Formats: sequence, C-alpha cells, structure tokens
Amino acid sequence: MCFKPLSLLNKPKPTNPSTPKMASKNRAASSVFAILAIFILFHPNVSAQNNPVFACDIDNNPGLKNFTFCDSSLDVQTRVDDLVKRLTLQEKIVNLVNNAGSIDRLGIPKYEWWSEALHGVSYVGPGTHFSSLVPGATSFPQVILTAASFNETLFKTIGQVVSTEARAMYNVGLAGLTFWSPNINIFRDPRWGRGQETPGEDPTLTSKYGAAYVQGLQERDDGDKDRLKVGACCKHYTAYDVDNWKGIERYNFNAVVTKQDMDDTYQPPFKSCVLDGNVASVMCSYNQVNGKPTCGDPDLLTGVIRGEWKLNGYISSDCDSLDVMFKNQHWENTPEKIAADALIAGLDLNCGNFLGQHTEAAIKAGLVKESEVDRAVTNNFATLMRLGFFDGNPSKQIYGKLGPKDVCTPANQELAREAARQGIVLLKNSVGSLPLSPTAIKSLAVIGPNANVTKTMIGNYEGTPCKYTTPLQGLTASVATVYQAGCANVACGTAQVDEAKKVAAAADAVVLVMGSDLSIEAESRDRIDITLPGQQNLLITEVASVSKGPVILVIMSGGGMDVQFAKENPKITSILWVGFPGEAGGAALADIVFGEYNPSGRLPMSWYPQSYTEKVNMTNMNMRPDPATGYPGRTYRFYTGDTVYTFGDGLSYSKFNHHLVEAPKLVSVPLEEGHECRSSKCKSIDTVEQTCKNLAFNIHLRVTNNGTMGGSHTVFLFSSPPAVHGAPQKHLLGFQKVHLAPRQQSVVRFGVDVCKDLSLVDEVGNKKVALGQHVLHVGDLKHSLNVRI
Ligand SMILES: *[C@@H]1O[C@H](CO)[C@@H](O)[C@H](O)[C@H]1NC(C)=O
Ligand SMILES: *[C@@H]1O[C@H](CO)[C@@H](O)[C@H](O)[C@H]1NC(C)=O
Ligand SMILES: *[C@@H]1O[C@H](CO)[C@@H](O)[C@H](O)[C@H]1NC(C)=O
Ligand SMILES: *[C@@H]1O[C@H](CO)[C@@H](O)[C@H](O)[C@H]1NC(C)=O
Repeated sequence: MCFKPLSLLNKPKPTNPSTPKMASKNRAASSVFAILAIFILFHPNVSAQNNPVFACDIDNNPGLKNFTFCDSSLDVQTRVDDLVKRLTLQEKIVNLVNNAGSIDRLGIPKYEWWSEALHGVSYVGPGTHFSSLVPGATSFPQVILTAASFNETLFKTIGQVVSTEARAMYNVGLAGLTFWSPNINIFRDPRWGRGQETPGEDPTLTSKYGAAYVQGLQERDDGDKDRLKVGACCKHYTAYDVDNWKGIERYNFNAVVTKQDMDDTYQPPFKSCVLDGNVASVMCSYNQVNGKPTCGDPDLLTGVIRGEWKLNGYISSDCDSLDVMFKNQHWENTPEKIAADALIAGLDLNCGNFLGQHTEAAIKAGLVKESEVDRAVTNNFATLMRLGFFDGNPSKQIYGKLGPKDVCTPANQELAREAARQGIVLLKNSVGSLPLSPTAIKSLAVIGPNANVTKTMIGNYEGTPCKYTTPLQGLTASVATVYQAGCANVACGTAQVDEAKKVAAAADAVVLVMGSDLSIEAESRDRIDITLPGQQNLLITEVASVSKGPVILVIMSGGGMDVQFAKENPKITSILWVGFPGEAGGAALADIVFGEYNPSGRLPMSWYPQSYTEKVNMTNMNMRPDPATGYPGRTYRFYTGDTVYTFGDGLSYSKFNHHLVEAPKLVSVPLEEGHECRSSKCKSIDTVEQTCKNLAFNIHLRVTNNGTMGGSHTVFLFSSPPAVHGAPQKHLLGFQKVHLAPRQQSVVRFGVDVCKDLSLVDEVGNKKVALGQHVLHVGDLKHSLNVRI
C-alpha cells in the first residue's frame, strides 16, 4: 500500500553520532546524516536549543500582563475561557493538531504535543531531541519487564524519575511537556509485536501499573493536584492489539468485541488510568471496534471517557488516525465529514494535520459547529495551563532549576539496574545450578546472539540511553569469560554450532543469551511463530549436550517463547527471562546469576506452545473459550489448554511459605425485604444494590522466608468465582510484594471489597456478585468462601 502513516513506525534518529555502530554504518548512515544536515539547515529551531517554549513571557513582553489567561493566580477555567474567547477560528484550528501553531499577537509560541516516555525519555516523537547538552536519558527496562516486578512503588518511582529527566530536558528546549505514554492495552495474544510495551495480560496488573506510572509522571512534589509535572497519556483506546498479522493491519482491522470482554478485559485499565491515575490524556486507536473507528465513536469518547469517567484533559488521536479513517477505512466519503465526526465524537487533538486541513471547510459546510472546536481547544489549552506553560518563564517555577545535571544521574541509572533486577524472572532452576559462585567458576562461556547486544536491550519507544552494560560486560565484571555469538543475529539462519560447543565444553558453566529483538517483534510486526527464531533451539541443545557444568538459558524477548524443549532438557539447568532489560540489563543479569540479588520477578503473561498459533487466529478478540469451535480462550483467566509457563510463574533462591491467619468462610449480602432473590433462586446479585456498598472483609496471611537468602516475594491473591455468567476460571484480586530476611515472617493483609473485587461482568455488561463458593488462592493455599444472601 502506498499510504504510509507519518508516524508511529519507529524511526530511530541518529541522535548520538559518536556511537561506533553509527559511524561504521557506511551508506545508510551517511545518507541519514545528509538528511539530518539539511533538516538542521532549514529548521534551525530543532538543533540544540537552550530555551524552553512557553507563553505569557511577561518579562520580555510586559503588555501580556493585562491578559487574564496569563494570570497564574486565577483558576484554569477562568483563564482558558478568557483565552479561547479571544481567538479567531483559524487560531483555534491550528491548535487542534500536534504541531500546534503560534498566536504571536497573544504571545503564544508554537508547541509540539508529541513526545514519548514509555520507559525513559524517548526520541520517538518530534517534541523531544537529544543533543550535546543532553546526549542521553536513563533507559529503564521495557515495560513488560518492569511489570514483572509486581512492585507498585517501583512503577511510580520510575515515573517520577522519567518526569524529572523530562522536565530537565524541557528546561533546555529539548523536550515537550506532554508525553504519550503509557501503553496499557491488554497483551491478549503472544504474537503481538507491541506486547513488550504493555504491562501484560492481566487487567488488574495493567490497571495498577498504568495508574502508578501516570501518577509518577504527573504528580507534583508540592502536592498541587490541579497542576501537572508533565502530562501523561493512556493509549491506545481501545481493544487495540493487532499490528500486522498475516497482512491484516491495524489501520483496517475491525476488532469484534463482546460487551462482556469489553467491560472486564479491554476497558478496565483505561478506566483506572482516568479515575485512579487522573491522567491528562487518552489516545484513541487506529482500529475499529465493532465496526466503528474509535476516534469517531461518540459513545466511546464523549460517552465513556468524558461522561462516565470525567477525564480532566484532552483526547488525542493516534498519529494520522483520521487520515486512516478516510483513506484506509473509507469511513466517510469526504475528509470534511471525517473531521466533523471526530470533533463531534469528542476528539480534542489530532496527531497529524487532518483537522488542520479540513475543519474550517467542515464548519462552513455546516457539518460541525464551532462550539465543538471551542470545546477541543479549551481542553488542550487547559492542559497546557496545568503544566505551567502559560505561567511565564519556567525557570521561576517549581521545576525551573532542573537541567542537564539531573539527567542520567548515578541514582537514576542505579534505579534502571534495580528495575531490571526486580523484573527478571527465574523460570527453571535445578539443584546446584543458580546462583553461580563467582569464586568457584574459573571460566564462563557466554554464548548467543543476544549475549553482547546494546540496543536490543531497550526495546522500542526508546531514547538514547546514558550508557549500556551488555550481558557479556555484566558477567565479565565478576568472572573470566569466553564469548561466542553462535549466530550472526537473532534470526539465526545458520548456527555456528561447532565453535560454540568448543568454548562450552571447556568452561565450568555456560550462559546462553538468546531470544528476539525488534526484527522479530515490534510495532507493525506481529509474529507468526512463537518459537525461538531460526536455529536457536539447535544451538542451545548442542551446547548443553557438551557442557560439564550448569547451563543457564537466558531469554531476552518481549513476548513469551515456546521453550518447552529447554524446560524438559535436564542438561539445561536454569532458564531466566530478562525481557528487554534496559540500559543496565547486563549488570542486573549478573547480579542475579551470581546471587547478588535474589530473583523475584513473575511472568506478567502466559507462555503458550507453538501449537497455539496454529489453532488460534490472532484476530479473534474473544477472551472466553468456545467449546463449539474448539477455541481455547485467552490468558490465564480463560485459556483452557496447556501452557509452557503461565501468568505469575517465577522462582526465587529462597522458599516462601504462606499461612492463612484470617479469612471469612461466609459473607452474607443483606437484601431488602421483597427483593426478588429472596423468594426465587438467583445465581448472582447486581452490585448496584445499596446493600452491596461497604461490604468488605480482610484476609491476613503470614509469609515466611524459609530459605537461607533474603529476598522479595510477591503474594498473589486470586479468586475462582462460581462458574456462572462465563466467569473467569481464576482472576487476580490483588498482589503485594514483601521483602523478607532468611527466617523472617511478615503478615500481609488484603482488604477485599465484595462488590468491587469479587464481582464479575455478565454477558450484557452488568456487574454482578456470583452467589456460592468463591475459592481464594494464595500460592498453594486454597480457601473456600461462601457468598450468600
Ligand atoms: C561487546 O559489545 C561492546 C559494546 O558494543 C563492544 O565494545 C565489545 O567490543 C563487544 N565485545 C566483544 C567481545 O565482542
Ligand atoms: C481464521 O481466519 C480465517 C480468515 O478469516 C478463517 O478462514 C479461518 O477459518 C479462521 N480459523 C480459525 C481457526 O478460526
Ligand atoms: C522449612 O524448610 C525446612 C527444611 O527444608 C523444612 O523442614 C520445613 O518444614 C520448612 N518449614 C515450613 C514452614 O515449610
Ligand atoms: C519495590 O521497589 C522499591 C523501589 O525500587 C524498592 O525500594 C522496594 O524494596 C521494592 N519492594 C520490594 C518488596 O522488593
């Protein structure tokens, strides 16, 4: 197809021309530099700037003092009303797009809305650049690995560090204030190339991750809830998780979603992002949902996001979504009608320039009222006001002292290492394998196409990192190593088996670092197979067969891999999943391999066998199995077939025991006189019942570290509700992570709200509490709870 969206295809920019990799990349690189040079010549404003953009520069333009919208002592509503009243239609329209135009007569400069900060300040998005002033920013693990830490404090702390670095870059003119992160779509199918960007397959974890990361990005240290440190954005709303599978592209894909799946799987993370995270923006997606493009659906935007959830902020489109609605989806026969549909649906900001081009004609044709444009720019400008953009020189504001010295600080980089350590998942560990003793191991063979990679470690939506520590470098810091790549790249067309076996046979232990990279799973790149690519299995098996000591298989990937062969092979003594572990990934891996850190990560998604991809179409959005067609369903909540590993799996070097201290066996929901369920038998009751309010109980558990090593442990509280209304077989009510020294005990408390936490969504989208036996699970413990009227 000739149509190419602007946009979200990652186009890594040569922001750091001094990296040797860049310099050696002859022709491709030099043409990129030539283009960059031309770009800089004609756009002097994108080269290293030293000043942030802001409005109401009263110091240099005292006349601006008289404008109400510049008066930072007034509330946002008063200021934004004053501003919008002053604007011509054309001035409003240029502020409906990401590359927003200036209004010189009012002292408002142009503003680029599009920046990204998925796991560190990123160069994807034209609002942010690296330069000699700030050559890199802290690159945290790709989100799927951070999610594996199951540590809400960590999620929020990373958000705080990222927004501090973002503000520091804004202050020197290198970044915007609005960041289109996080991605909180459900990782429904293992083949999705963007699964790596998400917190995984579970709505509870995804909701908690989204809210915590957004709070970390947005909340100001002075506690001023009306103002924002930076603006976050939860995307892609909604039911978006097909990029390009067997030629079916996100631009044309119509996600057919049941009301039940919508309400108990796809929507909860967005709801939590708005209600718990107070996010400043939601981005609608490319795909259609049930035949309607999300960015043109008034029920989804105005009805739900603004009406039900009361978003305080702006609704943005994905980049070129409106063009996609017109050119790919043929949703309307004129571009003016598309512009009108989007504005009427509730869209405020268009990534791309479609609204810039077609809004005026749409208004002239009577397709949309100017009042819709007023509403949209009001939401956009109000967000900028909450960011301090209209408060004059930022150097006099709360974050005004931040600068290049606050980016890539040792503490921030240490947090990147800590995040990777907390996320890495130990999937298999035979007796006598990990941790390796750095004194007993005299030689370590380090093998595999990902053993000495840099950029692979940071996944997509990346920025230029402060520095890299590769797995080889991390391991070599503790022991003598011998390195063999074993394959030319992760595709591993022909493995160099003999060379690898030679170094493996001579070593005391072997670490194989295998997996994928963005050539296998990425944006616009869904997988067909979920096995390790090419001859990786052969290399692993052959190397293991000649090794005399422990063989540690490390999988570096975003999505799960069918490693059943390795799970079963006794010669492969340990398996670790390291996600895409960020700039300090190699150091974190070494910390775990040598027992400096006790692994505590747990899988945030199921790992399926390859046969799954043969049985299940990626495009089938149904979460629930269908016995009539043999469709097995999706994720640990519904999938009924075999897995290689499942959600929540992960080992430790210690053993943790759970003991139930307190949990009710019975909960009665009091119903008023004459309630229909008092006379007839009901399967469930509606949670809107008045009596359902404040019905809560506690679960207390004693957790003991019964090992010889201190470590962190995640306690999961799952529930299996009675099998009514297509209930999940099991779902996560909550999780808590505790750190315990050897032999130490701790009591973990979960507060359970019956109507919130134990409820389920019925076939038509109503929230119900099933009556009967709910089985609560913690580790191997099972506790039966009878819910009755
Ligand atoms: C490992 O990667 C680093 C960083 O790219 C590079 O400097 C080093 O030469 C590589 N080591 C080997 C043994 O190839
Ligand atoms: C998958 O989709 C194709 C094309 O829509 C269809 O022909 C096929 O029957 C589907 N297969 C399954 C297993 O649902
Ligand atoms: C702790 O470990 C020891 C030794 O492995 C075992 O005998 C004991 O039963 C364990 N304690 C608990 C509470 O499981
Ligand atoms: C959670 O993460 C924070 C921030 O890194 C850390 O201080 C804390 O120890 C972690 N909690 C556990 C139980 O590991």
